[in-house]
Amino acid sequence: LYKQLLQPLLFALDAERAHRITFAMLKLAYALPPARWLLKQLYYYRPEALACEVAGIRFPSRVGIAAGLDKNAEIIRPLGAIGVGFVEIGTVTPRPQAGNDRPRLFRLKPDRAIINRMGFNNEGMEAVVQRLKRHKGQLVIGGNIGKNKITPNEQAIDDYLACYEALQPWVDYFVVNVSSPNTPNLRDLQEKEPLKHLLHTLQNVNLQQPSPKPIFLKIAPDLSDTQLSDIVEVVQQTGIAGVIATNTTISREGLQTSPTTLTQIGAGGLSGRPLRQRATEVIRYLRQALGAEVALIGVGGIHSPQDALEKLEAGADLVQVYTGFVYEGPMLIKQIHKALAHTKPIQAAPAQ
Ligand SMILES: Cc1cc2nc3c(=O)[nH]c(=O)nc-3n(C[C@H](O)[C@H](O)[C@H](O)COP(=O)(O)O)c2cc1C
Repeated sequence: LYKQLLQPLLFALDAERAHRITFAMLKLAYALPPARWLLKQLYYYRPEALACEVAGIRFPSRVGIAAGLDKNAEIIRPLGAIGVGFVEIGTVTPRPQAGNDRPRLFRLKPDRAIINRMGFNNEGMEAVVQRLKRHKGQLVIGGNIGKNKITPNEQAIDDYLACYEALQPWVDYFVVNVSSPNTPNLRDLQEKEPLKHLLHTLQNVNLQQPSPKPIFLKIAPDLSDTQLSDIVEVVQQTGIAGVIATNTTISREGLQTSPTTLTQIGAGGLSGRPLRQRATEVIRYLRQALGAEVALIGVGGIHSPQDALEKLEAGADLVQVYTGFVYEGPMLIKQIHKALAHTKPIQAAPAQ
């Protein structure tokens, strides 16, 4: 239904408009009982056997929606109705912000990829909390948090703390996003010392709560080997629960799309198929370096069940999709679930 009928119509529209229309359709379908029934009949396949425990949380399946798709926690229920195991909302910032000027979202169809420079457009933590209150207990929800564009890096910690405190009762895990290429200088926070300080501070506050939540760090795929080994050290020293690998890339290597088109599109993070291999490499490296105790969420270029299995075999405990969901449609979740149901249980790679 999606690939034959809806996608050609949506792909004829500007990408951001298509995104908004898809949201409206999903909300409507969920609100009308016959349409909701149809949605479930078509897409829901999530047998109990797919449930797993990661970082102390029971996930109904290993397959979730990556951050950036439902930034403001608007479509958690409809996503649950099509069977996803978890949804990561955000990136949420303390204050609402409009993000970068449009156009800022581009499809690279020959590459089955997307370039975006959204720039953390979101309604801000208060508005998101109001929505989350209605969803408590619905699905496993991750809270991906960041800083406002106008906040200088020296004060970034205050933004992360504010988001942490606001979302604490309403999400199951946290993600510290220091890897988006679309907020100026944000990725400098991935450097060893500022990162250690940020994660130490957050983890200390977290451990003082009556119910601490697992904290994940989301990293870029563009880190050098030295930077990756620094990340490993920081994760071990701060004792956070895990890492999400990876965010979008600033690389434009190996694309079918012409250099002229790429120049016209301009800056932004690339996601989808071209990211698959590098994201898997990063996961494999992290699993070997971090051992079995640290949780890993693999994301980047998952467009088929094989791609999801590749990430899990490389050492991911959970996987997320975004661009694959846009190109392949909601059936992708069901297809991955079917493949997982027919595969022997996947164990994270043993510690070296
Ligand atoms: C339009 C768009 C917006 C995104 N926004 C965010 C975001 O706000 N925070 C974040 O951590 N990642 C964001 N991402 C990155 C995705 O969560 C994911 O890490 C990346 O797209 C790689 O996965 P994919 O190849 O399945 O898309 C965004 C990706 C896209 C395509």
